[in-house]
Amino acid sequence: MRTQVCIVGGGPAGLLLSQLLHLKGIDSVLLEQRTQNYVLSRIRAGVLELGTVDLLRKAGVSARMDRHGIPHDGVSIACGNQEFRIDFRQLTGKPVMIWGQTELTADLYDARDERNAQTFFEVRAVNPQKVDTDNPFVTFIHNGTVHRIDCEFVAGCDGFHGVCRKAIPDTVRREYERAYPFGWLGVLSETPPVSSELIYSAHPRGFALCSMRNQSLSRYYLQCPMTDRTEDWSDNAFWDELRRRIPEAAADTLETGPSIEKSIAPLRSFFCEPMSWGRLFLAGDSAHIVPPTGAKGLNLAASDVHYLYHAFLLHYREGDSSGLSEYSSKAVARVLKAMRFAWWFTNIMHLLPDQPEFDRRMQEAEIDFIKDSDSAQSMLAENYVGLPY
Ligand code: APR
Ligand code: PHB
Repeated sequence: MRTQVCIVGGGPAGLLLSQLLHLKGIDSVLLEQRTQNYVLSRIRAGVLELGTVDLLRKAGVSARMDRHGIPHDGVSIACGNQEFRIDFRQLTGKPVMIWGQTELTADLYDARDERNAQTFFEVRAVNPQKVDTDNPFVTFIHNGTVHRIDCEFVAGCDGFHGVCRKAIPDTVRREYERAYPFGWLGVLSETPPVSSELIYSAHPRGFALCSMRNQSLSRYYLQCPMTDRTEDWSDNAFWDELRRRIPEAAADTLETGPSIEKSIAPLRSFFCEPMSWGRLFLAGDSAHIVPPTGAKGLNLAASDVHYLYHAFLLHYREGDSSGLSEYSSKAVARVLKAMRFAWWFTNIMHLLPDQPEFDRRMQEAEIDFIKDSDSAQSMLAENYVGLPY
């Protein structure tokens, strides 16, 4: 079997890259270790930067998003009984788009099905080989049979737990990580959102976030200890704690209902350098993880794909490989700026266990400063809506 680009991983990064390349006549095969339904069952974030929106439109998979997505012009920041709004539209001229990752992943798979794209699901033992030569190939097992795909490039879009990052030699690859001493307990409920925009709330009991997927599907998060398990949290316990941590006006109008999904996710900042090695290129969570506070995970996968897509176009159309050579440095530069924002926002909004009282007062002072400072609000807005590609 032979293809131009062998894409490992059928999440947003791999799907979007494959779709964009296809529209330019560049052939790819996609390997995914799970089933399509399993990938579509994952509940992930739902805030898209305009760069991501534009890329989905370019990929021809934006019809449902353009019809049902909800543009948001700002968010609320709450700290104790103070609440203020960050006006993206006024500060940056740009909104963000509320559109669930599950939805865009479904649109990308629908596009694959329509064009009978070659996808191998439930693959095993995926092994990118000779990626530092001009003749890379990928072996894998599918339905008990060993397969080999000879290709010109390998795109490692296989997420944090994938294999492609490790195909970069240990002597070359540098990894940086910070694990946060808490997690996010998330609940999805078929209830109207408590507010027309997102509310990020710093509270002495812990962080809370009020989000949504649409006008009848809400998404809420509570900071929780990493030792917590979902079975420790009844729905009533969740709603009671949420009410304690969000502004009173919101708590009074909160509509609750049975959780249709409940999960706990760890928070981590992670990135590896370089994001390429020979003819292997990493994109998305395979190369970096950000805490969800800044809603950057999916949007960084999109900007990686933007850089890699244009690099492949330059190579295949003009015979110019400068884009491929510059990919890693360009992608890492944008990743690190978004990672800084997500790290900063996480640290000022969350209660850090065993935190000295002085540090907690400094957190409150920083949020209070943002409340009264146009320049601080502009910094937050500029990062939240997405830095330029
Ligand atoms: N072989 C094939 N597929 C693999 C392998 C492997 N060895 N290991 C992992 N995968 C698949 C996973 O099953 C998953 O479907 O790769 C895909 C990676 O998708 P994501 O983890 O969603 O990563 P990415 O496409 O970069 O999207 C980033 O997804 O997880 C969220 O928060 C993250 O919003 C961010 C976005
Ligand atoms: C979500 O809606 O899942 C969401 C929104 C904003 C975040 C994180 C998650 O920062």
